[in-house]
Amino acid sequence: MLESPHIPVLPSEVIALLQQTKSPNPKWFLDGTAGEGGHSKLILKTFPEANLILIDRDAVMLERAKKEILRELGSLERVHAFQMNFSEVDESILSEVGCEGLDGALVDLGVSLFHFLHSGRGFTFKNEEPLDMRLEPQVGMKTAADVVNYSSILHLKKVFWEYGEERWALKIANNIVQTRHKKKFETSTDLAKLVEASIPRKFWPKESHPATRIFQALRIEVNEELLHADKGIRALAKVLKIGGVLTCISFHSLEDRIVKWTFRDLKATDHFEILTKKPILPTDQEIKENRASRSAKLRGLMKIHPIKENRWEK
Ligand SMILES: C[S@@+](CC[C@H](N)C(=O)[O-])C[C@H]1O[C@@H](n2cnc3c(N)ncnc32)[C@H](O)[C@@H]1O
Repeated sequence: MLESPHIPVLPSEVIALLQQTKSPNPKWFLDGTAGEGGHSKLILKTFPEANLILIDRDAVMLERAKKEILRELGSLERVHAFQMNFSEVDESILSEVGCEGLDGALVDLGVSLFHFLHSGRGFTFKNEEPLDMRLEPQVGMKTAADVVNYSSILHLKKVFWEYGEERWALKIANNIVQTRHKKKFETSTDLAKLVEASIPRKFWPKESHPATRIFQALRIEVNEELLHADKGIRALAKVLKIGGVLTCISFHSLEDRIVKWTFRDLKATDHFEILTKKPILPTDQEIKENRASRSAKLRGLMKIHPIKENRWEK
């Protein structure tokens, strides 16, 4: 399969934030969303003496990232890989590799282009695939088909409205419930067809498929993405060293809202300082060269005082 190389978003901006770490000789970084290894390679190249804790929820992506790092850097000696959710990082994970705190960490939220194009897990309405959408199929979470086939009409409406900002949420939820009595939804195209039929053609968005928002909403629900974003930012902030930097890239307003408010919450504890008053956006040039960057927003946070009590934790 011929694939165009993955380009990480906001590359120099992420590195510039990580370089603000106060440590004169930074030794430990963490990439909580390894993906195709794009940002990880940059981190390893920028800090040639540092180690990298490499994490992805999706075992397939973790392997792809490791392979890519090995291909470009020739070694995985400085890489410590864990297939896990970044929201579960804690001191015990760090101590397993002899790390006492992070000089810098990155999370680049969402899923990879690979998930849409090649995972075969129904992330896209463009191919006929099982309606799955799980990032960790091995842990037995509910699939997108389970959500569609067994949720109440009100729950479906809430998911489509809150995670997809879809104004036809109730109509689509209602049509799903009517249809599944006769036949359960099995594939991505079953669902895409229902959404197409539920939204009058004159209200179809101009630049995207009418099912785009519904697919995004289901993916967020299946993987509990917003919950893990909030929990993960707090978990990573906790294991930063004093002077360590946490950077977060988001791709839609729901994610950015979580990053912004969790950062504000952490700042209110007086242990953290926000490094980006406003989010850093891609330049016109970057958007031209990498369309995937067009909705990206980057924010950074630094730990400034040790945490002596747990009052800032949720
Ligand atoms: C946007 S991609 C990251 C791309 C990467 N920065 C690069 O340059 O190649 C997001 C990745 O994060 C993973 N992911 C999403 N949520 C996660 C979570 N809560 N914990 C760990 N990995 C997660 C996805 O499986 C996906 O591979």
